[in-house]
Amino acid sequence: METSIRAAITGTGSYLPEKILTNNDLEKMVKTSDEWITTRTGVKERRLAAQQEAASDLGAEAARRALREAGVKPEDVECLIVATVTGDMPFPSTACFIQNLCGLKNAAGFDIAAACSGYIYALNIAKSFIESRTYKKILVVAVDVLSRITDWHDRGTCVLFGDGAGAAVLEPARDDNGIISVYLGSDGAATDMLKLPGGGSRFPTSAETIKNKLHYIKMSGNKIFKLAVTAMIDSAQKAMALANLKCEDIKLLIPHQANIRIIEATAKTLKLPVERIFVNIQKYGNMSGATTAIGLDEAYRENRIKKGDYVELVAFGAGLTWGAAVIKWGIKNIA
Ligand code: ACO
Repeated sequence: METSIRAAITGTGSYLPEKILTNNDLEKMVKTSDEWITTRTGVKERRLAAQQEAASDLGAEAARRALREAGVKPEDVECLIVATVTGDMPFPSTACFIQNLCGLKNAAGFDIAAACSGYIYALNIAKSFIESRTYKKILVVAVDVLSRITDWHDRGTCVLFGDGAGAAVLEPARDDNGIISVYLGSDGAATDMLKLPGGGSRFPTSAETIKNKLHYIKMSGNKIFKLAVTAMIDSAQKAMALANLKCEDIKLLIPHQANIRIIEATAKTLKLPVERIFVNIQKYGNMSGATTAIGLDEAYRENRIKKGDYVELVAFGAGLTWGAAVIKWGIKNIA
């Protein structure tokens, strides 16, 4: 009888575009203030992709860094999963663009759309492929270029978002480290709360959709806020229960960075002290699915997690979708 295998993350990488847009810059664009944005959201600045940079350019750079870290050659990757809602084009998939940019000649590639929860959804697919022995080397990329679908005249949304990409290589674990549990959920009754209405088969692009600004993010901020806190807490607890762990076992929680007040409310209910919560919202804002992928990469590089530590990712976003993953960290620290 074959023994069960676990999927381990053997390398991570991330890429943030160079251009920084500060709250002071935004004060010149919409009626807002650094004080309002900082106290109501926690964001101080965000990164914006350069004009010539599309999702695949950001994603490919994060992917190259993760492959280098894992010591995996591009031609050895068997599967590439890209989580994005701002792909280069509706089709071909952004995975195919990244495959070409990175020379992943032998990989099957596809995209998944779960907005801010996309990285956790993609990790779960990769985990299942490894556990079922379908593939041995999988690359997961989470990338979003939200600046391209942001209405820079809408102060209710434009202060929140930024661009970035994160990636991870997954392989069968050589020890007991790896992804222990994943919990996922969604609620299609809430599709209206956060959406990009235009450009799809419901409202194909026309002069009318552009006039009505349907090509920009529409969000009911405070309705989502309350649901977000509940979904984050519930997901984090469910993934811990599936892993047979308690809050005190989690060395670091890496939550989606949509709003510092959502993060603080989640941490408070879970009774996690600040030093066990990862926060980088001040630097990057909300980068959709890329947020938790970049968070994991930064937490590892900053030595916030060590080999053998339990780390938990938790996110929610448009759909609504939500999810959490508990990982026993398997990479030795660099320093
Ligand atoms: N600057 C100054 N004032 C502002 C701004 C701004 N940027 N934005 C809104 N306001 C004003 C409003 O007009 C309102 O004024 P009024 O009282 O005169 O009408 C007041 O501030 C309060 O507005 P609210 O919308 O109630 O503010 P709230 O405290 O809810 O904060 C926010 C808004 C930051 C959007 C918050 O609701 C939030 O973070 N929601 C969750 C967003 C989220 O998590 N989205 C999901 C993930 S994203 C994804 O999946 C891609």
